[in-house]
Amino acid sequence: MEDNLVLSSVHIGANSRAHIGQSTVTSEFHYYLPQSTCSDLTDLVLVSDEDGDLDVPRRSTEHKVITLSHTMATPLNNVGTQLWSASLLMADYILSYKEMFHDAIVVELGSGCGFIGTVAASCVSHFFCTDTGTSVLRLCHQNLVQNNVTNNVSVHELDWFNCEKDLQDSSSSLCSSGMEEGDRYKWNHSELELLRKTSIILASDVIYDNELTDAFISTLVYLSTVIMESTPLIIISMEKRINFTLSDLAPSSPCYEYFCSSLAQSYEASNEMKITFDVTPLSTDFPQLFKYERVKELEIWKIKVKKT
Ligand SMILES: C[S@@+](CC[C@H](N)C(=O)[O-])C[C@H]1O[C@@H](n2cnc3c(N)ncnc32)[C@H](O)[C@@H]1O
Repeated sequence: MEDNLVLSSVHIGANSRAHIGQSTVTSEFHYYLPQSTCSDLTDLVLVSDEDGDLDVPRRSTEHKVITLSHTMATPLNNVGTQLWSASLLMADYILSYKEMFHDAIVVELGSGCGFIGTVAASCVSHFFCTDTGTSVLRLCHQNLVQNNVTNNVSVHELDWFNCEKDLQDSSSSLCSSGMEEGDRYKWNHSELELLRKTSIILASDVIYDNELTDAFISTLVYLSTVIMESTPLIIISMEKRINFTLSDLAPSSPCYEYFCSSLAQSYEASNEMKITFDVTPLSTDFPQLFKYERVKELEIWKIKVKKT
């Protein structure tokens, strides 16, 4: 991957503070909890007052703030230490459809700084933040500690190029050898048992390189074999990045298109199980609780895994 720097704009307006001698900055993400949430927009009952005007639900006064450490511009191979707009869209979705996540065991792929786990902590039974490389995992863990959400949110190594090996029980090796920092993010027996009960897989802004997309889909296929739920739900948010390519002489989104065509295929899982993905793009008209630009290129999809 090339060394050009990329910078997310999400921290703009987030009261970011730099710290002398540290490579990270700290930003604050303020939001008001929605007064009530609905599991589906069809559940929303519109009430009129005596003049026939719509009685619009008022903004809740329950103010929350997430304090997040993250870096500024990075090379493409270290983008996990930044926060990306698609994760704010995902956070809005989770808070708007809280009931869907109630008591769920959730695993997130490519969690980066841990923003979504921090937001979802109050809604779920357990949330696994996963990513690869000690620096991202450490930052993710620090952010969970900073926001006091370590009870039901944990951080684990899950490299899409190595998922089968990463998802092995490391309990015995951790007891017998000295603990290194990377060991803290390995999976133990009880965590793997809990992972098998996952009903929702999340990922935000993970579609930006075709080789990574292949590995990401292989991980979805592998996870589907590990998870006991017959039709686990995947929710993916992403920014459809548009390039002007010399080959097409037109604007296009090659990584997005590659992902769409890859999801349309059927996959053979190791135990002769066939996996297919049933993709539904979702409307993004749910409330916006965080401050970011909700451009039309920000998308969120619901994907049902079918095992046959
Ligand atoms: C653009 S960042 C998005 C981070 C975060 N989800 C967000 O939206 O702010 C892409 C994420 O995918 C992770 N990633 C890239 N390659 C990966 C791999 N092979 N295995 C697991 N995660 C990977 C990166 O570390 C990074 O956290």
